[in-house]
Amino acid sequence: MLQRAAAFAPSNIALTKYWGKRDHVLNLPLAPSLSVTLAELGTLTVVAPNPDLSEDVMMVDDQELDPAGMTKVRRVLDVIRQRAGTQVKAGLRSVNTVPTARGLASSASAFAALAVAASKAYGLDLSERELSVLARTGSGSAARSVAGGYVLWHAGESQDGNDSYAERVFDSEHWPLKILVAVVADQKKKVSSTQGMKMNAAGTSPLFNAWIDQCQRDVVACQNALRDKNMRALAEVVEGNALAMHATMMANRPPLLYWQAPTVALIHAVRRLRDEGAECCFTIDAGSSVVVLCEAQDARAVSDELASVPGIEEVLQTRVGGGARLVGDAG
Ligand code: PMV
Repeated sequence: MLQRAAAFAPSNIALTKYWGKRDHVLNLPLAPSLSVTLAELGTLTVVAPNPDLSEDVMMVDDQELDPAGMTKVRRVLDVIRQRAGTQVKAGLRSVNTVPTARGLASSASAFAALAVAASKAYGLDLSERELSVLARTGSGSAARSVAGGYVLWHAGESQDGNDSYAERVFDSEHWPLKILVAVVADQKKKVSSTQGMKMNAAGTSPLFNAWIDQCQRDVVACQNALRDKNMRALAEVVEGNALAMHATMMANRPPLLYWQAPTVALIHAVRRLRDEGAECCFTIDAGSSVVVLCEAQDARAVSDELASVPGIEEVLQTRVGGGARLVGDAG
């Protein structure tokens, strides 16, 4: 049965990163990765199948989606339609509560929300694992925005990608950390993660293969630190992993440098705060903004310190949240 359906999916931040693909069409990673789910920051998407439409149409934050974005959306919808045995196109509308293209992955929540809403709209009853695989085909990190809490994305081995999915390893209550996003005031990022990963592959950076090996070890160390709720151990692996990813990019030819001066100042600020006793650590995605995880009792002091760094536009605050879910129609 075709019906209008709406879903919210949260954004996620990788604690150990996905940076390197074994398949650039299916978004199959070379290594596993681990993420934390952000509570309120994400995407709400409404999907309305409509037999009168000759093409899918999508509005994102009240603007028509560009052709490149539409190609990715159609890829996800076509898989769903094939399974549902229908050709009917859809009208889609999506609203982001994540600032786009600032090193915060709005594509992760967008494709997870799309997978959940569209599969319901086309009458499919998919498991969390199937939804994760489906979301991954739109954007790799979207695989991790279905489950919620602390999430592990298995790299998988099969060529069709059906064993490359993400699942929750700890729920949001296990370690209810605060998550601060220090948004660096610069223009939109210049190199998307899709482009960046294409540029930064084996053969172009002497560090690349070592980076992929490191990720395999870091996922295990990170999961242990989360299990033990050990911030010192978490800081070692999370910060080390992010710095190693950026080192791999910087050693690329041509080099990829996402950092701005405030990015470096934020790194030093977090290390200083930790030396002074605050339980916190940082990570950085393919952008200049810095994400800080901290214990609730330290959140105010850490946030104030980050906000005082010159060049910081704002400090967003959220917590570890649950996974993607169907919601009442937003109208
Ligand atoms: O899923 P994409 O193409 O947006 O890639 C995300 C890449 C990083 O954010 C840099 C790392 C990650 O694991 O999220």
